[in-house]
Amino acid sequence: MKQTILITGGAGFIGSHLVRMLVEQYPDRHYVNLDLLTYAGNLANLRDIEDKPNYTFVKGDIVDADFLNGLFKQYNFDGVIHLAAESHVDRSIEDPTAFIKTNILGTMNLLNAARHNWESFEGKRFYHVSTDEVYGTLGETGLFREDTSYDPRSPYSASKASSDHLVRAFFHTYDMPIVISNCSNNYGPFQFPEKLLPLFINNIKHNKSLPVYGDGKYTRDWLWVGDHATAIDLIYEKGRVGETYNIGGNNEWKNIDLINDLCDVMDELLDREEGASKKLITYVKDRAGHDRRYAIDASKLMNELGWEPTVFAKEGLRKTAEWYLANEEWMENVTSGDYQKYYESMYAER
Ligand code: NAD
Ligand code: TYD
Repeated sequence: MKQTILITGGAGFIGSHLVRMLVEQYPDRHYVNLDLLTYAGNLANLRDIEDKPNYTFVKGDIVDADFLNGLFKQYNFDGVIHLAAESHVDRSIEDPTAFIKTNILGTMNLLNAARHNWESFEGKRFYHVSTDEVYGTLGETGLFREDTSYDPRSPYSASKASSDHLVRAFFHTYDMPIVISNCSNNYGPFQFPEKLLPLFINNIKHNKSLPVYGDGKYTRDWLWVGDHATAIDLIYEKGRVGETYNIGGNNEWKNIDLINDLCDVMDELLDREEGASKKLITYVKDRAGHDRRYAIDASKLMNELGWEPTVFAKEGLRKTAEWYLANEEWMENVTSGDYQKYYESMYAER
C-alpha cells in the first residue's frame, strides 16, 4: 500500500460515507477506521466494505492518549482525517461533559500523537472535520465565510470551536500541516435518528408526533452527505496547508418548510392520504440558545478546488426518505436498546 491513513469516527454518519468512498476510490491506500462505537457508531454502516483488503477497523477511544500513541507506532500513518466527535446539539445541552472530553481533549490527544510520532511533517496531513455552527448564528441575510468570527453558542459548537482553535494552534506553533473544513447540516442514509430528518421520518412511519422546536422558522443549509465526502476528499488531496474551507449545499430551508416537504414525500411513499403526515406536526418548547439561521459561502472551495454539490433539495429529501423506508432493519437496530429512554428524556418535558 502506498499510504496508510487514519480516519477517526468512520463508523458514524458522515465517516461511514467517507470511508466507503475512499476505500473504493483508492485501492492502493490503506484506511484505518478508529471508532469507539458510541451510540452513534455502527459497524452495520460499513458492512459492504468490511472485507476489503485496504480497510481495517480498530475500536478505541481518542480520549486515551496512550492508546493513540500505540496506534501511531503500529501503523505509521501518513495522514489523519478526524471526524470522531459527540455531534448532537440537544445532547450537549443536557450534558456538555462528554463533548468537552471527546471533541476537545480527544482532538488534542490526536494532534499530540501526530506531533510526537511523525518524525518529519514532510508529506503528512492532519485534516480536521468541523461544523459551520462555530460561527454562531445569522439574521435573515448574510453567509458564513472563512473569515467570519467564531461565536459558538451551544456546548457542542463551543467544543468544536475549541478543537478548531487547537488544530490551528498546532499549525502556528509546531508547523503541523493541518487543514480544516466547516460544513453545514448533512443529510442522507445512516444518520442516527436524533437529528431532525431521520427522527421525523421514523416518527411519521410510526404515526408519532413531530416535535417542531419553537416557531419552526429556524433555517439550516442542507448538504447531501455524499457531497460532503467528495469535498473532504478534494480538500485532503488539494487543500492548502493551514487553510480553512467552508462547505455548504446552497440549499437553505426553514425547518417548517423542510418538514412540510418531508410530510408530502412520506404521504406519497407510504401511500397515505394527502396531508396525513402534516397532522403529526406539534410545536414544542424551543431548544435553549437555538441558533436562528446558518448559511454558507462555499465559494473558496468551489473556486479554488472546483467542488460542487450534486444533490439538491427535494431530490435529496426523497432519496433520504426512500433509504430509511427501505432499510427498516437498520432503523430498528439503532432504535432498540437505550434509544427509547433517550427519546422520552429528551421529548417528555417539551
Ligand atoms: P456521528 O455522531 O454520526 O458520528 C460520530 C462518530 O464518532 C461515531 O461513530 C462515534 O462512535 C465516534 N466517536 C465518538 N466519540 C469517540 C471517541 N471518544 N473515540 C473514537 N470515536 C468516537 O457524527 P457525524 O454527524 O457523522 O459527524 C462527524 C463529524 O462531522 C463530527 O466531527 C461533526 O462535528 C462534523 N460535522 C457534522 C455535521 C452533520 O450535519 N452531521 C455537519 C458538519 C460537521
Ligand atoms: P438537528 O438535526 O439537531 O441539527 P442542528 O441542531 O445541528 O442544526 O436540528 C436541525 C434543526 O431542526 C434545528 O433548527 C433544530 C430543529 N429540530 C426540531 O425542530 N425538532 C427536533 O426534534 C430536532 C431534533 C431538531
